[in-house]
Amino acid sequence: MFDAITIKMDNKPIYDIIFDSTFDMLSKVICDLDISDRRICIITDSNVEQYHLDDVVSVVKRSCNNVYSFVFEAGEPRKNLSTIEKMYSFLIENHFDRKDVLFALGGGVVGDMTGFLAATYLRGIRFVQIPTSLLAMVDSSIGGKTGVDFNGYKNMVGAFHMPSYVCINPAVLNTLPEREFISGFAEIIKHSIIKDKEYFEYLKKYSEAALNKDYEVLTSIIYKSCLIKKSVVEEDPAEKGIRAILNFGHTIGHAIEKFSDFELLHGECVSLGSICALYISMKRGLISPEEYNSACDLFAAYKLPVTLNSISHFDIDAIINITKNDKKSDNNTIKFILTEHIGNAFADKSVSDMEMAEAISSIIVIGGSNE
Ligand SMILES: NC(=O)c1ccc[n+]([C@@H]2O[C@H](COP(=O)([O-])OP(=O)(O)OC[C@H]3O[C@@H](n4cnc5c(N)ncnc54)[C@H](O)[C@@H]3O)[C@@H](O)[C@H]2O)c1
Repeated sequence: MFDAITIKMDNKPIYDIIFDSTFDMLSKVICDLDISDRRICIITDSNVEQYHLDDVVSVVKRSCNNVYSFVFEAGEPRKNLSTIEKMYSFLIENHFDRKDVLFALGGGVVGDMTGFLAATYLRGIRFVQIPTSLLAMVDSSIGGKTGVDFNGYKNMVGAFHMPSYVCINPAVLNTLPEREFISGFAEIIKHSIIKDKEYFEYLKKYSEAALNKDYEVLTSIIYKSCLIKKSVVEEDPAEKGIRAILNFGHTIGHAIEKFSDFELLHGECVSLGSICALYISMKRGLISPEEYNSACDLFAAYKLPVTLNSISHFDIDAIINITKNDKKSDNNTIKFILTEHIGNAFADKSVSDMEMAEAISSIIVIGGSNE
């Protein structure tokens, strides 16, 4: 049994993250939010719909009579204002008012879009996160960042809007495609590198059980990552300072993701970007070669990529150029996240193009070797 995690702001409780191996926990949520006589709209995508929508609808219907669902085609290309417009129309046609509530059933795309819809519909209504991908459970459902992509720029339009609850049912990971499941571990390993050496050792010890979806181990890992994300977002809810450490591995990772035209998954790119950040940390004497190797081994143990094949395809200068357009750069200065040993990440504005180029070269292999 895993206790609820309460997210606070200015020391006031804002919302709870709760855990259960079924969706029965949603009855408690409806009771706590006192919404059994309100309208609830479950928003999901076409993949999650197939496996989990009926279960969720049947639990919610036990406590509430006015249950609606809105399904859109799965995938990042639908994360835009045009899908949001369809959602606004659906809510208006079904007379949703300020006291009604949205349930986001899905991965980060569903969560970010439902959060944005909730932030903007009637100037803000409540929403509940029911994350179904590993990435959404440990990362995107917590912290209140919502939004959509715009004109090819990721998450360019958005708002901070806190959920009323985050309900995590790790059993749904059984239907998540394997590549998406593995990709989620990049953010988990990142949490251990930025904040917690003991967690890093735990992840090493239990990699096999976690990959085999051992319920206790997997839930412990999700739980621990939620605690780390909680500690960072509570300290810096509006991303003005310390929250930047969550971007460890993301500066070069995002650039590789964009350069690959999103053929590589986000977590796969975070793995590669993290190896680069670890490499720069090692070159600066902040971590030892043993720590560097141990971290690379951990990403590899979770079957994440630690090298890129073929220098001809991955153009180092182009990747570095993309890092300059990262929307998280401040006046063209990149806040690069490095780590001092495992567990102490910090932002540094002095990482040079040369250091980045050397780090990216270190992960590119030609014919199976990066010597
Ligand atoms: N708000 C934040 O703080 C934050 C943080 C990180 C990422 N994000 C955003 O999250 C998104 C990525 O999230 P994601 O990796 O979950 O992508 P996703 O939502 O596209 O889900 C990945 C794929 O898995 C499917 N899926 C999800 N759960 C499933 C399940 N249980 N069974 C079967 N299929 C399932 C989806 O339909 C999709 O095809 C990006 O848009 C990113 O910008 C937001």
